Amino acid sequence: MVDTRLSRRAALMGAGAIAAWATSPARALLMQVPADGAVPASIDALIATMTLEEKAGQLTLNAAAWGGGVATALNPPSTGPSFEGQVADAVAGKLTGVFNGNGAVMAERMQRAVMKDSRLKIPLIFAADVIHGHRTIFPVPLAEAASFDPDLAMRTARAAASEAAASGIDWTFAPMVDIARDQRWGRTVEGAGEDVRLGELFAAARVRGFQGRDLTANDAVMACVKHFAAYGAAESGLDYNIVDVSERTLREVYLPPYKAGFDAGAASTMASFNEIAGIPATGNPWLMKTLLRDEWRFPGLVVSDYTGDEEMIAAGFAKDGRDAARIAFRAGVDMSMQSNLYMLHLPALVREGVVPQATLDASVRRVLAVKHRLGLFDDPFRRIDAKREKARSRTKANLALAREAARGSIVLLKNDGGLLPLPSSGKRIALIGPFASGQHDLNGPWVVYGDNANAVDLATGVRAALKDKAALTVVAGSEVEKPIPGGIEAAVAAAQAADVVLLAIGESEGMSGEAQSRTEIIVPPVQQALAQAVAATGKPVVVVLKNGRALALTGAVRDAPAILVTWFLGSESGHATADILFGAANPSGRLPISFPFETGQEPYHYDHKATGRPAQTLSEPYKAKYRTAMNAALYPFGHGLTYGTIGYSALSLPPTMAWNGTIDIAATVTNTGTRAAEETVQLYLRDRVATITRPIRELKAFRKVRLAPGASETVRFTLTRRDLEFIGMEMKATVEPGEFDVWIAPSAQAEGVTGRFVLGAG
Ligand code: NOJ
Repeated sequence: MVDTRLSRRAALMGAGAIAAWATSPARALLMQVPADGAVPASIDALIATMTLEEKAGQLTLNAAAWGGGVATALNPPSTGPSFEGQVADAVAGKLTGVFNGNGAVMAERMQRAVMKDSRLKIPLIFAADVIHGHRTIFPVPLAEAASFDPDLAMRTARAAASEAAASGIDWTFAPMVDIARDQRWGRTVEGAGEDVRLGELFAAARVRGFQGRDLTANDAVMACVKHFAAYGAAESGLDYNIVDVSERTLREVYLPPYKAGFDAGAASTMASFNEIAGIPATGNPWLMKTLLRDEWRFPGLVVSDYTGDEEMIAAGFAKDGRDAARIAFRAGVDMSMQSNLYMLHLPALVREGVVPQATLDASVRRVLAVKHRLGLFDDPFRRIDAKREKARSRTKANLALAREAARGSIVLLKNDGGLLPLPSSGKRIALIGPFASGQHDLNGPWVVYGDNANAVDLATGVRAALKDKAALTVVAGSEVEKPIPGGIEAAVAAAQAADVVLLAIGESEGMSGEAQSRTEIIVPPVQQALAQAVAATGKPVVVVLKNGRALALTGAVRDAPAILVTWFLGSESGHATADILFGAANPSGRLPISFPFETGQEPYHYDHKATGRPAQTLSEPYKAKYRTAMNAALYPFGHGLTYGTIGYSALSLPPTMAWNGTIDIAATVTNTGTRAAEETVQLYLRDRVATITRPIRELKAFRKVRLAPGASETVRFTLTRRDLEFIGMEMKATVEPGEFDVWIAPSAQAEGVTGRFVLGAG
């Protein structure tokens, strides 16, 4: 076979090495790639030549010793072996690959050593946490979910994959699809929020974006749906805490987004840190065998989360490392991340007959199969290209996409008196707050490769949008959690001298993300004091919130006439926010999580059950509400304003849906304002009476429409019986005939237009 790639490999590996590679068993796979992309039989031939140690090595993934590293408490970049030590391990067949390394040059050196000097010449796989961008940073995943535009998330994942793949990355540990209903949990920021349907759509879109159409392409990376399963249901919102939910809630709420990711083709998944009802996910055969393999027929790879197997010791589920390796492996975790426990113990466990050889081979086969699907046997260097890495990094097109995505992620919660948009001239503006200026807190949590120093801050964005640059004064006023001496006085003086205040306050990027659970989901008190002092000047205040979760807004922050939720928007933060502030773009984002009245309501989600005592008002006694808050949200899921005003009318709803039929539901939306608007029209259902109680509303569909001033559009939805399903008595998806309430509305709490239909009996 004439292979032009061989000459490139020869250049990378050296001519002597190419001869060894060309005759190796791994090379034989290149010659046998079946046209349909199925796993070649020669993978088994290769497995037959492997020692137990080499097999365990294929199931062992470690953090790269070379830069990039993730600076978390769990993974201080300074620990671990030297680069040379890690290369030696890889050459000795003790590693399947590494993660969170930095850049093509180092990846190439490591891959070259393995292809030249290892016995079997099985290519390494390079993984990384490419969560919301690589060098170009896109909005945090929660923010992108606020776009209610899965196609946008697909495009940003595609762009991130293309940048990451060029630096040698084959596999991203994303998307995170954990449903998050307790906003104290810091990792809410990494997912698509509280809703099942939105979660499914974003999971599928991100998988498709990362993997592209062809996993062998040099701009595709393998997706890893994580964290399997129900990591977001951590008790008390405490990261890593136990999860204890019923099988029904698991199947109805937490599992569907993972399933959607698998159905979209995700080739890997990551076992979560948490236990479920007493059994750690990493050691849970029901989860990883009965459900994942037998019921869902998932053919891909299961990797543990960082030392998740070893952590079963502290959790009291395994007595030592050997026990932990045995439990995790037998439960169905193919690959062990970072603990080295498989390398240390699997060979002996097999020799002693504790772990069947066939099970080991099955896991190795799955690992080699994904390496094959990624085209690594064909060309181990296909994604490693320092020139391409540079050329694809932070391109004009990617930065434009980052700005588009950031604009689409911003949510306008409130705009009393039409304070926004601001004119770009003729008004003096005081930009106040710890997030007003400076290259910090722009990208948000979980960025391994991007740099805040490359991102546009708010002051720069606002200045660029203003015709008269001198009209802008910038004052910090306070730090995120500490006062600045004289800060409030300076802020008040700036406010007094201005016509309008932009108050950039909220959470720093370190306050959400992994291990960043909060007991109070509030704007830090020092910033609330700043807001209070600025509001007392009487000047109109636009709150520009930075946040990685829903916040409970109080006092002057809650009462400000205009509030924008701007999350962490990434590379183009400042420009995108200014686009919205000054009306170059219309706000179109919607909340993917409910903003409660108070922290004490958490976990709160809009699709809760009614209870036997639903409350209508705060004054009713003996009803399901708090003394100070209704069982509702201050700003509900789905809420978000635009600069137009939108009217809902003319619900068209047939009275019945046949058991084997579908139902067409429509409503008219009209832009009654004077500016163009983008409306996210949402369809909610309630199953009124069922053998299992049903939520007060569930999102079933939504559609975004652009409306010129005065324009109307009829928005149509078609529901099928699947949209009416719930998990019934037998723990299976079921539908019961009867009455269903329908809302077509602008949020989970808005009335919009509403009606009822009856599903006929089958
Ligand atoms: C731990 C995190 O839980 C997981 O999301 C991440 O992918 C791994 N560390 C690897 O960095």
